[in-house]
Amino acid sequence: MEQIAHEIKSVMLVYFSGTGGVKRIAETFRFNLSNRGITVIENNLDLSIVNCNRYSNMSVDQIILIFPVHAFDAPDPIYRWIENTGITGDRIAVISVSGGGEVWPNTGCRNNCCRALEQKGLTVSYERMMCMPSNWVFNINDHMAMWLLRIIPDKVNNILDELLCGKVRRTKYKKGPFRKLITKLEKQNTAKFAKELAIDDNCTGCGLCAAHCPVDNIELRVKKPVFKENCIMCYRCIYNCPSHALKSKSFMVLKNGYNLTAVERRMKGIELEQVEKCCKGLMWKPVRKYLLKIEK
Ligand SMILES: Cc1cc2nc3c(=O)[nH]c(=O)nc-3n(C[C@H](O)[C@H](O)[C@H](O)COP(=O)(O)O)c2cc1C
Repeated sequence: MEQIAHEIKSVMLVYFSGTGGVKRIAETFRFNLSNRGITVIENNLDLSIVNCNRYSNMSVDQIILIFPVHAFDAPDPIYRWIENTGITGDRIAVISVSGGGEVWPNTGCRNNCCRALEQKGLTVSYERMMCMPSNWVFNINDHMAMWLLRIIPDKVNNILDELLCGKVRRTKYKKGPFRKLITKLEKQNTAKFAKELAIDDNCTGCGLCAAHCPVDNIELRVKKPVFKENCIMCYRCIYNCPSHALKSKSFMVLKNGYNLTAVERRMKGIELEQVEKCCKGLMWKPVRKYLLKIEK
């Protein structure tokens, strides 16, 4: 691994979080960096059109870009930020956060993003995958979710130790049509995803879905949400609806919802099962390796 000496006094944390997983990680980065006496500028890309030019003329020693993996790629707000930011020439670390870990085809998830950053004149010096409870397709058990939450400070500390001593960590990308095809197919349907949501009679018209949509895709008309065509499929409106009134037919949406605070509440005082027991099977091997700290 290459090493570049570089003193870091200020860091900009640029991140997007749909349902709160990435936000937890970003908060831990902020906390750890502040404890190290490093100035942190936080750029949460909610309502990314408004925010992407924020801090454009600012110069920082390091940017850390964090995003949830969506269909083996980064979600739209990240690309909008890259397109619109005026920041150039800075060093940037790209941290992807997935439910499934660093395994093909997830391994390609930073590829397009890194290319777009480099085309913008930014130097990508570091890439890393972090894992969080999956908010998509696979419902995981509470024990595994708790391990993933508990390990965040350790993982963040390790990343920052490497970054601050100038370690260079880049992924070698293998070419292959499969990942690109799935990403393309999913992205084609993303924008219209919310239009197919059913709103059941439990909807009280409280407007929380509209207020919290990160891309302003929901309007409240006659006390009912109306969806536009800019959905990024983050599932925030569905999982955060207090009346559980938004229903999707898609197998990708978790039927029992997604709420990390509720998991913590349920698991309070309960001893966690061993990682090997609660995170077993071939499919979870990359996450198990992540939790047992035996990944590369
Ligand atoms: C539309 C969508 C697509 C996703 N695609 C992937 C994927 O390709 N691979 C994966 O491991 N996780 C995938 N996930 C899971 C998220 O990356 C993961 O749960 C992440 O922690 C969510 O972060 P957030 O809570 O900040 O939105 C996907 C989630 C969504 C909503």
